[in-house]
Amino acid sequence: MKEEVIKIWPEISWIKNENLREKVLNCWIYAVENSVLTPEDLEVIPFSLLIKDCKISFMNHKRTAVQLSVDIAKRMKENFGEEIQIDTDILIAGAILIDVGKLIEYDKVDGKLTTSKAGKLLRHPFSGVSIADRFGLPPEVQHIIAYHAKEGDDAKRSIEAIIVHHADFVSFDPFKIG
Ligand SMILES: [Fe+2]
Repeated sequence: MKEEVIKIWPEISWIKNENLREKVLNCWIYAVENSVLTPEDLEVIPFSLLIKDCKISFMNHKRTAVQLSVDIAKRMKENFGEEIQIDTDILIAGAILIDVGKLIEYDKVDGKLTTSKAGKLLRHPFSGVSIADRFGLPPEVQHIIAYHAKEGDDAKRSIEAIIVHHADFVSFDPFKIG
């Protein structure tokens, strides 16, 4: 499974700290092994069940959000210099893990993809934090996962969480209907 996860997530290799990189990889291996979905499914299923006729795949959407996060951080560092401190490894780890909990959220009923009962009770930011904690990810990464979506709107997000939140929504909102 390790090779399959590395194949769908080339951005994992962008994490410089070996220990952190390994933990991120382990979270994804665990999630895929406990999901009704295979890594190949993630390359073809639409990134949201809420959008009708969505042609953007789960992996396309997720990888775009990670790539955008890195681009934004790079530009901010270039332009704001010492005025801003961004931990790129934490940023990438968090961005790769924000939706890892979604793999547990899905269920297959009569061959059709739906949201599982557990997924309805505990949205993916919560299940994602639980997976991240299981593999020893630091609180800075758990924070990005916990607050990346609407659950974090009233929270004080870290700079890395702000970047990931916006990178995620900028690659989601254009496809929303209504
Ligand atoms: Fe999400």
